[in-house]
Amino acid sequence: MENEKIIVEKNQGQPLLTNQTEGNSKKLYIESYGCSMNFNDSEIVASILSKQGYNTTHLLEEADLVLVNTCSIREKAEQTVRKRLEKYNAIKKINPTMKVGVLGCMAERLKAKLLEEEKIVDLVVGPDAYRDLPNLLEEINAGRDAVNVILSKEETYGDVSPVRLNSNGVSAFVSITRGCDNMCTFCVVPFTRGRERSREPKSILQEIQELSEKNYKEITLLGQNVDSYLWYGGGLKKDFKNASEIARATAVDFSQLLDMVATAFPKMRIRFSTSNPQDMNLDVIYTMAKHENICNYVHLPVQSGSTSVLRRMNRQHTREEYIALIDNIRKIIPDCGLSQDIMTGFCGETEEEHQETLSLLEYVKYDFGFMFAYSERPGTLAEKKMDDDVPFDVKKRRLAEIILLQQEHSLYHTNKFIGKTVEVLIEGVSKKSDSHWKGRNSQNAVIVFPKGDEKMGDLVNVYIEDCTSATLIGKRV
Ligand code: SAH
Ligand code: F3S
Repeated sequence: MENEKIIVEKNQGQPLLTNQTEGNSKKLYIESYGCSMNFNDSEIVASILSKQGYNTTHLLEEADLVLVNTCSIREKAEQTVRKRLEKYNAIKKINPTMKVGVLGCMAERLKAKLLEEEKIVDLVVGPDAYRDLPNLLEEINAGRDAVNVILSKEETYGDVSPVRLNSNGVSAFVSITRGCDNMCTFCVVPFTRGRERSREPKSILQEIQELSEKNYKEITLLGQNVDSYLWYGGGLKKDFKNASEIARATAVDFSQLLDMVATAFPKMRIRFSTSNPQDMNLDVIYTMAKHENICNYVHLPVQSGSTSVLRRMNRQHTREEYIALIDNIRKIIPDCGLSQDIMTGFCGETEEEHQETLSLLEYVKYDFGFMFAYSERPGTLAEKKMDDDVPFDVKKRRLAEIILLQQEHSLYHTNKFIGKTVEVLIEGVSKKSDSHWKGRNSQNAVIVFPKGDEKMGDLVNVYIEDCTSATLIGKRV
């Protein structure tokens, strides 16, 4: 089934940068699809393989090893990867020694089946097995297929320093949790990425320190659900017998981690993604308000504005609780940028329930959003227990209505910036014009303005003169 996404995540496909370590002679071509976590994982993989003699390349044709880090979230995402495998197959005909590996969520979901389904695949590695890559490569060099899709309760790759491939040298992702325990009934992530676990604060701070030394200006703390970050004072969840024992230990929760990071790196812009309404507490919002360097922006997926749909989705909050959270965010941080994820046509969704989503959108008026038609995923609870009974054209029509309304709201927000001066971190050159810079303000709005004597990574003030629903246009003051 086809799905739509209003804003296609940037840089899907091959990375922006290559990694060149002296003495390395083998060539790795790595492509990533899906969420930011996948992009960050590819940087961990590049780091592990750089110690095995691999430098990355942008040229598929010259690669000794081709890896594709995959997404299973919607059927469309998997189709994209299958198309890429066809492309690799064509190259393999010219370069038969080239090896092809599938990493990430599709590897985890399909396991060894991938080797049968896609004849050109030599290697299948799940998200928790990247440390095993050196051994798996030995296997394929010995002419054997290699598969490792074992999920771990502990792996955080905390000690692996990612090689930055998907970065502009200004902003970088830092993983803080892996996996997800929420079991939303539509979602494949708990099956492909395993149980949730948190990374030790010390290694998070160390990674940010390294980024700061390399002159990075912005970091995004990453997790499927950052709000449930919890580090148990030096131990792992499994080391404790019960909740009270955990409580006695010196735990670090997400608001505390955020506070530690913001305090330790006052010059670094700090963002985080993704928040989950059921786990986000007011401490997180107060911590955001306390620190100038934490951006005033929250991505808060809601999925549906109807409590009955939310219940079927196993989301642990009601429409009213979500609205109360939004009200609190706006009370504590009045100019906070807000964005959503919404899904249309989930099992049993009635026209009334769809109207409730539209009315929630009207109430919140998000700055922007990511919207999808529901795509049934094998193995999920929804697939096993519920009927995917909303016809495709109805899903699509509802999606179009939501996108249209969201665009109105986006324009309403961008318009509000006209005549104001905003602080912009310069992240690159505008896609549409070489003579313009592109950057974002604290609320995550994209700004373009004519180039002057400033450089990438500078924080500058820009006076906003014009806008579209997606971009603010201005000049430096
Ligand atoms: N907590 C995660 C959510 C991952 S999935 C995060 O870090 O963003 C991202 C979004 O994809 C979800 O919020 C949901 O809106 C959408 N999604 C998930 N499963 C889906 C499915 N089966 N069909 C359509 N969209 C889906
Ligand atoms: Fe998926 Fe829900 Fe976790 S959307 S990633 S199961 S919070």
